[in-house]
Amino acid sequence: MKVTPWEVEGNIDYDRLIKEFGVSPISEKIRSRLKDTHPLLRRGIYFSHRDFDKWLNNHDNKKNVSVITGRGPSEKMHLGHLVPFLVAKSLQDNFNCNVYIPISDDEKFYVKENLSFEDAIEYSRDNILDLIALGFKPKKTFIFEDFIYTKVYSYAGRIAKRITYSTAKAAFGLKNENNVGWSFYPAMQAAHILFPQFNEGKHISVVPVGIDQDPFIRLTRDIAMHKDFGFEKPAALHAKFIPSLYGDPKMSSSKEGSIFLSDSKKEVENKIKKYAFSGGGATINEHREKGGNPDIDVSYQYLKMFFEPDDNKLKKIYDDYKSGKLLTSEIKDILIEKINKFLEEHRKNKEKAKDKMKDFILKD
Ligand code: TRP
Repeated sequence: MKVTPWEVEGNIDYDRLIKEFGVSPISEKIRSRLKDTHPLLRRGIYFSHRDFDKWLNNHDNKKNVSVITGRGPSEKMHLGHLVPFLVAKSLQDNFNCNVYIPISDDEKFYVKENLSFEDAIEYSRDNILDLIALGFKPKKTFIFEDFIYTKVYSYAGRIAKRITYSTAKAAFGLKNENNVGWSFYPAMQAAHILFPQFNEGKHISVVPVGIDQDPFIRLTRDIAMHKDFGFEKPAALHAKFIPSLYGDPKMSSSKEGSIFLSDSKKEVENKIKKYAFSGGGATINEHREKGGNPDIDVSYQYLKMFFEPDDNKLKKIYDDYKSGKLLTSEIKDILIEKINKFLEEHRKNKEKAKDKMKDFILKD
């Protein structure tokens, strides 16, 4: 198993990651405070955290709290990419807090050998529209691009001065043949994570991210305490990887294995029918007799994570699939319809987002 911000390999053992990274599992007590939030938070896809209990307490005690999570714009967005933003929006809706969304066009430009500068900027624009389309609140949501909003560089510089090369190398597995952009970038992402405090003064922010991003959180928590800054340590919420349609641990960027926000109705239907890994029986008869396994069925997993917020309806799908009453083709049809409804709405909102950019994007 290998889990770093730029490489994920092997079978992921989340209990082992909790121990190795020194993070805390999300307890029932915390989950009971998240009853009205997005299924991703309620149903265990977010599985561990740092200081999120403190964030909740501060909120309850009327102290300022915020959310920050970013996007590396290396391509068009797929469902897996939405995960931290759906959670950020849900936290904004439930706790009425500010949300910061840095766009690390620099990171992807350095790390992706074949990504041109122009394409990095182009993907940023496109991805920002997808994010605005999710329905964040205009006066409480702040988006900025590293290559364009240069103020963040002045914060990154102050942070970079306090990170040694050997720290960055050990935390991120930097290699001699990597360009030097890689070694500076951690200061940039730390600046993103501390940005809410640079902007609004000392308070606790939470960072919803994939667990692979935790090295950035650790680094930033150390930096936050430095006497140059005197900030609060940011909190974090860690997500598991979202399975690809084939059932691999991580939704990769292969065109077939993921649902892109730009996929047409027909593409969605074809992909789900052809590729969505099934936990059903080999034949209809076998399925009717022995039932299916929803826990490995990708269609069920997507309904659970994203598309069936109603717990009772979800339970019925689970039970019916398990008993064999609901067939694989039928659970796939349910998912196809839900995804296409979501994407249709999304496309409309993305179109409208073009006129809303100015309400969200920070200017120097
Ligand atoms: N590095 C993240 C990724 O590749 C994107 C990102 C940029 C980010 N800045 C951030 C995530 C700040 C969390 C917080 O997906």
